[in-house]
Amino acid sequence: MATTPEIIEKTIDYVKETMIGESSGHDWWHAYRVWQMAKRIAIAEGADLLVVELAALLHDIADYKLNGGDTTIGPNTARVFLEQIAVSPDVVDHVCDIIATTSFQGAGVPTPMATKEGAIVQDADRLDAIGAIGIARTFAYGGHKGREMYDPNIQPVAHDSFDAYKNNRSPTINHFYEKLFLLKDLMNTDMARQIAEERHTYMKEYVDRFLTEWDGNS
Ligand code: ADP
Ligand code: NI
Repeated sequence: MATTPEIIEKTIDYVKETMIGESSGHDWWHAYRVWQMAKRIAIAEGADLLVVELAALLHDIADYKLNGGDTTIGPNTARVFLEQIAVSPDVVDHVCDIIATTSFQGAGVPTPMATKEGAIVQDADRLDAIGAIGIARTFAYGGHKGREMYDPNIQPVAHDSFDAYKNNRSPTINHFYEKLFLLKDLMNTDMARQIAEERHTYMKEYVDRFLTEWDGNS
C-alpha cells in the first residue's frame, strides 16, 4: 500500500502532466491553487485531508466544458487513475462523487454538496473563479472558446437549467452576471465566505470600470 504522501505525489505528477500548458484557465496551476485553498479550509474545518486534496487536485482532470459537454468523463478519468495507484475504494468513491457534483450549473440550478469535504472543494474551486485570478481566467476561457469580450446589445441570462447554461455562447462580460457575481452568496464555509467578499468587491470594481471605459467615460 502506498503512503498518503506517495499518493499525493503521484496525483500531483499525473495532474501536472495532463493539464500543464492548457490555455482556458483550466491548467495545472488552477488545480494547484484549488488544492492549496482547499487544504487551508479543510484544516480550519477539520475535514478528511486525503479526500479533499485528491478531489481538489483531480476536479478538472477532464472537465465537461473542454470535452464536448460530457459530465461523466471527469469522474471516470479520476477513478481509473485512483484505482491504478491503489487508493482505497471508499476514498475513490468519495473523491469521484465530489468531482461529479461540484460544478456550477446555472443561476437557477442548486448544486448542493453531500459532504463537508465536497463543500470545501466546491468553495476552493469557486474562490479561484473570482477576484483578480477569476477575471484573468474568464477572459482566457472566452478567448479559448472564440467568444466576444462584450456586446452591449446582448443581455445576461439567469439560466434555469444546466443545458441552457452549458450551451450558452454569450460574451465574456455576461459570465460575470451569469455566474461570478453570484458566487459569494453560494459559499459553503465561513472561511470561503470571508475570502469571497473581498474578491467579489475587487471584481465588481473591475467590471464597473470596464463598462465606464466602454463608452469613453473615463
Ligand atoms: P465549474 O466546474 O464550476 O464550471 P471550473 O473550475 O471548471 O468551475 O471553471 C470555471 C471557470 O471557467 C469560470 O470561472 C470562468 O473563468 C471560466 N468559464 C466558464 N464558462 C465561461 C463562460 N461562458 N465565459 C467565460 N468564462 C467561462
Ligand atoms: Ni475548477
